[in-house]
Amino acid sequence: MRAFFTRPLNVYAVAFFFLIAGAGILLSPITSNLIILAAVLFILYLLILVVLLILNDKYMKPVGKMSNMVGEMLKGNYQARIHQAADGEVETLGNKINQLARNLSELSIQEQTRSEQLTSVIDNMNSGLILVDGKGYIHLVNRKILEQFGGTTKNYHGYLYYDVLEHEVIHQMVQHTFLYEKSSKEEFTLMDGIDKHYVEIVGVPVFNERNLVKGAVLVLYDITEMKKLELTRKDFVANVSHELKTPITSIKGFAETLLEGDMKDEKAVQEFLQIIYKESHRLQLLINDLLVLSRLENENFPLVLSEIHPEKMLEEIMPAIRQKAEQKQLDLSIDVEEGIVFKADRDRIIQVFINLLDNALSYTPAGGEVGLHVNALQDYVHILVRDSGIGIAKEDQPRIFERFYRVDKARSRNTGGTGLGLAIVKHIIEVHEGKITIDSEPDQGTSIHIYLPKESAISGHSQ
Ligand SMILES: Nc1ncnc2c1ncn2[C@@H]1O[C@H](COP(=O)(O)OP(=O)(O)OP(=O)(O)O)[C@@H](O)[C@H]1O
Ligand SMILES: [Mg+2]
Repeated sequence: MRAFFTRPLNVYAVAFFFLIAGAGILLSPITSNLIILAAVLFILYLLILVVLLILNDKYMKPVGKMSNMVGEMLKGNYQARIHQAADGEVETLGNKINQLARNLSELSIQEQTRSEQLTSVIDNMNSGLILVDGKGYIHLVNRKILEQFGGTTKNYHGYLYYDVLEHEVIHQMVQHTFLYEKSSKEEFTLMDGIDKHYVEIVGVPVFNERNLVKGAVLVLYDITEMKKLELTRKDFVANVSHELKTPITSIKGFAETLLEGDMKDEKAVQEFLQIIYKESHRLQLLINDLLVLSRLENENFPLVLSEIHPEKMLEEIMPAIRQKAEQKQLDLSIDVEEGIVFKADRDRIIQVFINLLDNALSYTPAGGEVGLHVNALQDYVHILVRDSGIGIAKEDQPRIFERFYRVDKARSRNTGGTGLGLAIVKHIIEVHEGKITIDSEPDQGTSIHIYLPKESAISGHSQ
């Protein structure tokens, strides 16, 4: 049947010609009138040709086109359509094939979209992903893997995992996943130039419908930030314990001596009590600072916003600052632009001024200068606290905002410092969505610039 629809019309025309000619030759001996025989056979041949033409037009051509179209569809071209005018069953068949092509085309578009979405999800994942088949050949690596290990997909696809991934942990992970057929987790480090990255690798087996392992998926998470946080937390606990231990040991020691009671020397007793008082005061300051910090770090920290007029606000804190400057024989200059108003949490901003001025006064030797300038920029209020003091070396500058970081521990402790002042300042500025920068040179002095938004977009209670 197929041959009938595919063979060209002229083959049939020639075949029938010979058939009829053959019939003519066979019939010629038994007919007396050859002309009539020839005429009848010729008319018969014409009739056959007409039937063939009709058959060709109605069936052979459309079916041939349908066959071509199905061939195109088999090749994956779902855009092909039949436009052959036909009727009856052939037309219905043609319409159905067109409908089938439309459905397949839609399905293939959906499939393509889905696969594109999946590829983009896999590629934009923040974690690395490797897919290994049951024989150990890599079938997929995402962009993160290429970032972490270098190369392009061509360097991985179709290769055995142990030939292209050199980390022993990855080899063990794949083997473990195949051997035990369950997920497992491991950690390892990756070097990126001089940067060390901590990576957690999770291996998950992939099962086929008969529940046999047919591959493994490896997911690599970069846990460097988490590790750093963990380290900071450990450091913090160690630092707090250390900071608390020193005054407590001293308080305990002096209290014990006093309790033993054989101290006759009034002056020594007084001195010991002074030390106990000083150390407990230090403890109180430390605990207060820690509480302030922990409150500021709380995401729901409520800011109480109000309009701040810096000149007025400074009147409150200046007496204590002036007194300290006089004691240390420092030249203190205050220069606040008139009429500045901005919205912020008043108590917190006072704390910022106190901490910065306190540092400037503490770390400037007698005879030096300390200055406070406040001026308005377009959207920000600029606060500058500058001194002509000991300054801060470049390598220490990024660290002074860390909790408990002190450039010169002994010196800072003598000034009663806990090393939390600037950490608190930084947090307060951050919750106000402001900026803080530092400009300092050892033995030349330090300038701390703060930029606070005048009308900040921060959420808080207004007063
Ligand atoms: N103006 C300054 N000049 C020189 N060094 C400074 C200045 N301000 C801060 N530092 C350095 O930065 C460190 C951290 O300052 P921070 O205010 O956080 O702590 P502190 O002054 O030691 O203690 P406190 O928490 O009581 O303020 C200080 O110990 C000091 O070494
Ligand atoms: Mg300080």
